[in-house]
Amino acid sequence: MKIVALFSVKGGVGKSTLSACLAHVAATQSGRRTLLWDLDPQGASGWLLGVEPKAGAKARKSLAAASLADLIQPSIWPNLDVLAADRSLRRLEADLAGEDSEKRLKRALKPLEDRYDRVILDCPPGLTELADQMFRAADLIVVPAVPSPLSGRAVAQLRAHLADEMKSPPPLLPVYSMVDRRKSIHKAALDDQPDWPVIPYASAMEAMAATRKPVAAGPAARAVNGLWAAVERQLLG
Ligand SMILES: Nc1ncnc2c1ncn2[C@@H]1O[C@H](COP(=O)(O)OP(=O)(O)OP(=O)(O)O)[C@@H](O)[C@H]1O
Ligand SMILES: [Mg+2]
Repeated sequence: MKIVALFSVKGGVGKSTLSACLAHVAATQSGRRTLLWDLDPQGASGWLLGVEPKAGAKARKSLAAASLADLIQPSIWPNLDVLAADRSLRRLEADLAGEDSEKRLKRALKPLEDRYDRVILDCPPGLTELADQMFRAADLIVVPAVPSPLSGRAVAQLRAHLADEMKSPPPLLPVYSMVDRRKSIHKAALDDQPDWPVIPYASAMEAMAATRKPVAAGPAARAVNGLWAAVERQLLG
C-alpha cells in the first residue's frame, strides 16, 4: 500500500480537485484498489466523488482508535472507496497538538494495508500538526502550485522544512495547477521548472463540483493521466 498526499501551504491551488481525479484514475485506469481519504473538514474531495460522510461519523475518534475501516464507503466506480470528511475533523488539529506520537495518522492507516494498493490523502492547507503527521505517513507528496515566480521558492522552502524535521523525508512531486499558457507569468514559471507536470486551467475541472464526477475526457483528463503516470513512476522507481 502506497500513500500519496496532496499538500500545499497555500489554499485554493487544486489539492482537492486533483485528489479526486488522481484517486479516480488510480482505480479505474491503473486498476489499483484505491482509497481517497478526505482529511479536510471542508469535505471537498469526498463530495467531488459523490460521497457524503456517514450519519454520525466521527473520523477524529476513529483515527484515535485506528478504526477507520467502519467509515469507508464505496464510490460508484470499481476499486474506488472514499473516507469522507466529517465535522469532527475540525477538532483534529487540537488533538494532534497534544499528542505524543508523531505517527498517529500512519498508525491509523496500518490496518488498511491488505485492503488497498493506493491511498490518496486530501489535506487542508497549511503547515499544521496534521501536515506533520501526513509527512510521516506519505510515500510521496504531490504539491500543486499555481504558476508564479514564487512557486519554485515555495517548494524549496517546503523541501528545507522537511529536511529539518525528518531523517528521511518523503519525495515531493510539484505540479503546476490551473495553468493558462496565454499568461506570460505562467509561461515564464513553466520555463523555470520545465520538469513539473502541468494541469491546465479547464472549465471541465471546475465543473466537477456540479457533476460530482472527475473529468473523463479532453485535455484536462489527459493531463491528469500524465500526472498519475508521474506519481506511479515515483512510487515504483
Ligand atoms: N485545473 C483547474 N481548472 C479550473 N478550475 C480549477 C482547477 N483546479 C481546481 N479548480 C477550481 O479551483 C477552486 C479550488 O480548487 P480546490 O478546492 O481543488 O483547491 P484546494 O487546494 O483543495 O483548496 P483548499 O486549500 O481550500 O482545500 C475550486 O473552485 C475548483 O473547482
Ligand atoms: Mg481542498
